[in-house]
Amino acid sequence: MNQLKNDTFLRALMRQPTEYTPVWMMRQAGRYLPEYRESRKTAGSFMDLCKSAQFATDVTLQPLDRYPEIDAAILFSDILTIPDAMGLGLSFEAGEGPRFAKTLQEEADIKQLTVPDMASLQYVFNAVSSIRKALNGRVPLIGFSGSPWTLATYMVEGKGGTDFLTTKKMAYARPDLLHHILETTAQTVIQYLNAQIAAGAQAVMIFDSWGGALSHNAYTEFSLNYMQKIVAGLTKTSEGRIVPSIVFTKGGALWLEAQAEIGADALGLDWTVDIGSARKRVGNKVALQGNMDPAILLSTPEAIEKEVAHILASYGNGNGHVFNLGHGITQWTPPENAAAMLEAVRNLSKPYHV
Ligand code: CP3
Repeated sequence: MNQLKNDTFLRALMRQPTEYTPVWMMRQAGRYLPEYRESRKTAGSFMDLCKSAQFATDVTLQPLDRYPEIDAAILFSDILTIPDAMGLGLSFEAGEGPRFAKTLQEEADIKQLTVPDMASLQYVFNAVSSIRKALNGRVPLIGFSGSPWTLATYMVEGKGGTDFLTTKKMAYARPDLLHHILETTAQTVIQYLNAQIAAGAQAVMIFDSWGGALSHNAYTEFSLNYMQKIVAGLTKTSEGRIVPSIVFTKGGALWLEAQAEIGADALGLDWTVDIGSARKRVGNKVALQGNMDPAILLSTPEAIEKEVAHILASYGNGNGHVFNLGHGITQWTPPENAAAMLEAVRNLSKPYHV
């Protein structure tokens, strides 16, 4: 396999010394880039992009070609490929977000849920191999999945934007049914991420985008425990290197101490927490990834640079920080503002690594 030319991101996740703070952006391949919008038009739809190894490779590399400072690539796909493979019928309506033809609300439907054959997700693994080939060792490739809780909200509700009320009702009224969904999904995620690693993913990230909507006790029972199970089931080394894992609960900064115990190498941070105090709270157990508010990228290069400087100073000297946004980059971000952030991270972070 090809040699990595820039392994700064992987070293930071392992809390090893780096020359500067590595950076990438959640949703870095996306609608804020005119070249992405062009590819999507040519492909036909978002899922057509995901299902074609060539298109998925092209769009994964677009932000890297535009911004030389980016230190990691992320597989172009979606967390909702798993419920789709489970037979729920995914579609994306323009301007409306994801929709499922079927939902998991009736006991009989839930009890029929099983781990899908990974062959139905082969298009994802093909995209991983194709992207690795095209990267040719430029930067590491991140594979990813949704957390069981976050995927369950889509499977039960059938769409986003519902305040998760049907899923939460199930958690309190029929926890046995929700646990069946979560357990089946966790087993699926383990196989799915391990197949991505076998195909060439060099780090993996679990997106628990809606874990922050849970109550304190429910977070442990319905989200964190299943992520712990997944981390325990992951392939730990591949191609002679450790494959680090990142766990990100959006809105979950209240529970960082508990997250730091589940065996992941790094935790994602949204923008609601000061990264310096987060660092103290997790001790030397994990690296941290984050935590700039993506809305700052709608402002000015001066405001962006000031915020980058603030986050770097708050983290302070030493290893274990991967700079990122606290959630996905928005489609209204001017591409030159993303450049301002990436350049500022590269230029301002070196003094913290001497
Ligand atoms: O970070 C990357 O560049 C990799 C690609 C990636 C996408 N989705 C591409 C995408 C990743 C890592 C995801 C994860 C994902 N998908 C999450 C977890 C992260 C998060 O944002 O909290 C969630 C909750 C989803 C589900 C999902 N997919 C939603 C709610 C939507 C529609 C919302 C929107 O922004 O329109 C998507 C579609 C989607 N996934 C797009 C992209 C680039 C936009 C599709 C398009 O119209 O081109």
